[in-house]
Amino acid sequence: MMLSDAEFTDIAQFIHREFGIHLSDHKKVLVAGRLGKRVRQLGLSSFSSYLRAVQQDDSGEELTELVNRITTNHSYFFREKAHFDFLEREVFPALAQDLRRRRNNPVRVWSAGCAAGEEVYTLAMLFREYFGPSLEDMDLGLLATDLSLQALAAARAGVYPANRLQEIPARYTGAYFRRLDADSFEVSDTIRKMVLFKKLNLMDQDFPFKGAFDIIFCRNVMIYFNEETRRRLVDNLYRYTRPGGYLFIGHSESLRRESCPFRYIRPAVYHKPLEVRA
Ligand SMILES: C[S@@+](CC[C@H](N)C(=O)[O-])C[C@H]1O[C@@H](n2cnc3c(N)ncnc32)[C@H](O)[C@@H]1O
Repeated sequence: MMLSDAEFTDIAQFIHREFGIHLSDHKKVLVAGRLGKRVRQLGLSSFSSYLRAVQQDDSGEELTELVNRITTNHSYFFREKAHFDFLEREVFPALAQDLRRRRNNPVRVWSAGCAAGEEVYTLAMLFREYFGPSLEDMDLGLLATDLSLQALAAARAGVYPANRLQEIPARYTGAYFRRLDADSFEVSDTIRKMVLFKKLNLMDQDFPFKGAFDIIFCRNVMIYFNEETRRRLVDNLYRYTRPGGYLFIGHSESLRRESCPFRYIRPAVYHKPLEVRA
């Protein structure tokens, strides 16, 4: 089925409006491939009739189907390892010192755009390894959100093919994974129970959180967004970062220094100082 330039533009504009995801012209083939199958499944004759069907579907189900097909949920354990090294070296020791002072204050961590859970499970393992038994005394909340229900279902299941565990240090695989069969592993219940998964569109004007986070990972998500959307998201992330907290973004992403409220610490790591502008 042919995807005309005009249809591609309409679909791209719609996706941008709804999700902030920017589809450049060279994504046309990808869109044709991924959505073409769905158009045929529904017995429709063109991409424009498909777009109308999405817009007229009040249940929002077809919109979800559409975004599941468009988003790329690629991720892996210990991705951009420098971030996890930085946490162990700089952030966790400070947190450990701070724990007594913040007795009634939960430690909150958010993986925003969590894909199939690799990032947040890496964080959960890291917390377990570093804090050991004292983790029981810490009120730690790990939240992981994504737009894609498919990605969230995979994340909740926590089952991965053996070859996806390659980046994980052996002691972690031994301690936190269970072999299911020759080809797959499952994240242990201990780790899985540490994480709450929720659907959330990062394009939303506001987020439904009461408190702020100590650590936010929003990596390799903003690559899809244009400048304005990215700036709005970063402002929102800043609001939901606790003073003294950190934002981690993907190493191929960067924030504009002039408009960025965070303080730059090192590549792809930003900080909200303790004394902050409101
Ligand atoms: C490439 S993955 C990155 C996963 C992980 N953060 C990492 O760095 O490995 C990008 C994820 O962002 C999600 N995503 C894209 N647009 C989003 C939006 N507007 N709101 C929430 N999640 C979004 C996608 O569904 C996908 O799972």
